[in-house]
Amino acid sequence: MTTDSKAVVDQAEAYYDSDDADNFYFHIWGGEDIHIGLYETPQDAVGDASHRTVAHLASHLTLGANHRVLDLGAGYGGAARYLAKTHGCHVTALNLSQTQNQRNRELTAAQGLADRIDVVHGNFEELPFPDASFDVVWSQDAILHSAKRDQVLREAFRVLKPDGELIFTDPMQSDDCPQGVLQAVYDRIHLDSLGSFGSYATLAADAGFTPIATDDLSDHLVRHYTRVGESLRARYDEICRLASQAYVDRMLTGLQHWVDAGQAGHLAWGVLHFRKTRSRRRGSK
Ligand SMILES: C[S@@+](CC[C@H](N)C(=O)[O-])C[C@H]1O[C@@H](n2cnc3c(N)ncnc32)[C@H](O)[C@@H]1O
Repeated sequence: MTTDSKAVVDQAEAYYDSDDADNFYFHIWGGEDIHIGLYETPQDAVGDASHRTVAHLASHLTLGANHRVLDLGAGYGGAARYLAKTHGCHVTALNLSQTQNQRNRELTAAQGLADRIDVVHGNFEELPFPDASFDVVWSQDAILHSAKRDQVLREAFRVLKPDGELIFTDPMQSDDCPQGVLQAVYDRIHLDSLGSFGSYATLAADAGFTPIATDDLSDHLVRHYTRVGESLRARYDEICRLASQAYVDRMLTGLQHWVDAGQAGHLAWGVLHFRKTRSRRRGSK
C-alpha cells in the first residue's frame, strides 16, 4: 500500500471538498447517504437503496438514547440523523471534508437534530477524542480511503468503552483476488490495495476486537455501481452544469471499472461487526 499516508489523506480531503465531487455525490449518489445501497429490485432509486443500508446496519445493534455513537468518515451525515432520529442516540459525525461537514450541519439543523449530533472535522487515523468515550463506532464506506487501516481500527478500539461495538461497511477486494487486476480501481482512491473480509478480520483481532458478525452483501456492489452510472447518464446534462464535464466523464469510466471488477468477482462489500471485549487479548499490539 502507498506509504505516504499524509498525501492520501490530503488527496481524499481535496477530492471530497471539491465542487465537482460535492455536486456529484450530493445530487446523484444518494443525497444524504453516499455509500453502497441495498437493492430490493435493480430499478430501486440509489437514495432509497442507500438509506436501506443505514437501517440494515442499525438492525445489527441495540441502540438507545443513552448511547454515544461515533461515525467515522460521516459524509453528509445521513446515518447520524437516522440514528439520532430513530434511536435517540447522540452521534459524533467525524469527517475530513469541511464541504460535507457544512452541508451536514445545515441538514442536521433543518431537521431539528443539532442537539444530538456534533459534526467534527478530523482524520479517523488520529481521533481527537479521549479513550473509552463511545459505545459504538460506526463507519460506512470510508475506511477504504486510508493507507493506515490498521491504525483506524486501533483508534476505534481506543475510543470505545469496554464492551463497545465497532460496525462498518467498506468496499473491499475479494480474499482470493489475483494480483494486478484492480489497478484501475486502486487508481481512483490513490492507493494500491483495498481491505478484504479476511484482512479486516486480522486487523481487528490485532487491535484487540472480538468478532460478532460478518454479513457478505457483495451482490449489491455491482448493482449499486451500475445504478449510479445509469442515474448519472440519465442526468448527464444537468450534472455537467453542476460539475465539470471532465469530472463526470472520468466518474462514468471509474464506475464502469468497479462494475467490471465486481462482475469478475474481484470485489466484495458487506458488514463487519466487532466487540471490544473487556480484557484486551494478550499479545495484541
Ligand atoms: C464514500 S464517502 C461515505 C460517507 C458516509 N459514511 C456515508 O456513507 O454517507 C467516504 C467519506 O470518507 C471521508 N474520509 C475519507 N478519508 C477520511 C479520513 N482520513 N478521515 C475522516 N474521514 C475521511 C470522506 O470525507 C467521505 O465523507
